[in-house]
Amino acid sequence: MKSVIPVPLPNNPYEVVVATGGIDHLGSWLAGGAPLVKPGQKLLLVSNPAIFKQYGDRALASLTEAGYAVETCLLPAGERYKTLGSIQKIYDAALGFHLERKSAMVALGGGVIGDMTGFAAATWLRGLSVVQVPTSLLAMVDASIGGKTGVNHPQGKNLIGAFHQPRLVMIDPLVLKTLPAREFRAGMAEVIKYGVIRDRALFETLEAAPRLDQYRYLGDELLHTILTRSCQAKAEVVSQDEKEAGRRAILNYGHTIGHAVESLMQYRGVNHGEAVAIGMVAAGKIATALNYWTAAEEARQLKLIEKAGLPTQIPAQLNADDILALLQGDKKVEDGQVRFVMPKGLGDAFVTGDITHDTLLAAL
Ligand code: GLY
Repeated sequence: MKSVIPVPLPNNPYEVVVATGGIDHLGSWLAGGAPLVKPGQKLLLVSNPAIFKQYGDRALASLTEAGYAVETCLLPAGERYKTLGSIQKIYDAALGFHLERKSAMVALGGGVIGDMTGFAAATWLRGLSVVQVPTSLLAMVDASIGGKTGVNHPQGKNLIGAFHQPRLVMIDPLVLKTLPAREFRAGMAEVIKYGVIRDRALFETLEAAPRLDQYRYLGDELLHTILTRSCQAKAEVVSQDEKEAGRRAILNYGHTIGHAVESLMQYRGVNHGEAVAIGMVAAGKIATALNYWTAAEEARQLKLIEKAGLPTQIPAQLNADDILALLQGDKKVEDGQVRFVMPKGLGDAFVTGDITHDTLLAAL
């Protein structure tokens, strides 16, 4: 199975390819037709040791067969290594390998590897091409598409970054076979998000699926549909608003309260997708209270989140006042108002700053 989803950005158009076994064809897609990166050029493949052990040889074989000179830079896995220190390691590898302006970087990994490689590519020699080969569900449907790159500052997530669109996003669904189940569920939170904010048919497809909580229950066809429709939703939104001047903010559905939960938990015990699931449940309650959707639609969202095996309650150790206080310092505050993404029925959404303190408190 293979689908190609265009991301028609006026200055940086590219494609997202969803292809079973695609890792083995990465080189030919980069080199074929009008080459995205000219064969003979140098590629720096950035990954982490665990992912590289599983998929590195196949990616390297495919790239070298297509005529590229490839070197590897491995970085430790995990959000705590998403730092400028790791970027320095990529720069050192780029220097050691004598990358040139026409060389490229290839990110083989989850969101952390993708964001860091993208940022290093955006800044080394004032900008090299980057190819994203995401290996987690979350990175496939969200982080790899749209050009947001960056690292964390000790005071906050993703405070340092740049927009840098990839030349190609290559998604091989088969790599999800080895993704831990909890990470698979985390990605499913973003998939459900697309159903709510953009694609009612996707939402209904998810409702019709017998289970959503583990890769092995989905089947190749359903997984392919979920991936292509989610990537399509992301591609459409990003194409309308590349730098998040407006519409792109709807992708932050569930993220306002989600980020507050993650941050108050100090990024331990609850992962990003789980926090987004909790945030979507809270946002759903607010939307019902304000008649943006019906109680029945809210209940359908809740049922889907539960079916994906995701949490729906704010962790017991957090309280509403702490969350409200933290929201004031969130990136989504504009002119002193906390910005929320609200569903407008199922399949559409909008951004508003008009949620009162009392409404928020009641939902929390
Ligand atoms: N993850 C949200 C965005 O790419 O805009």
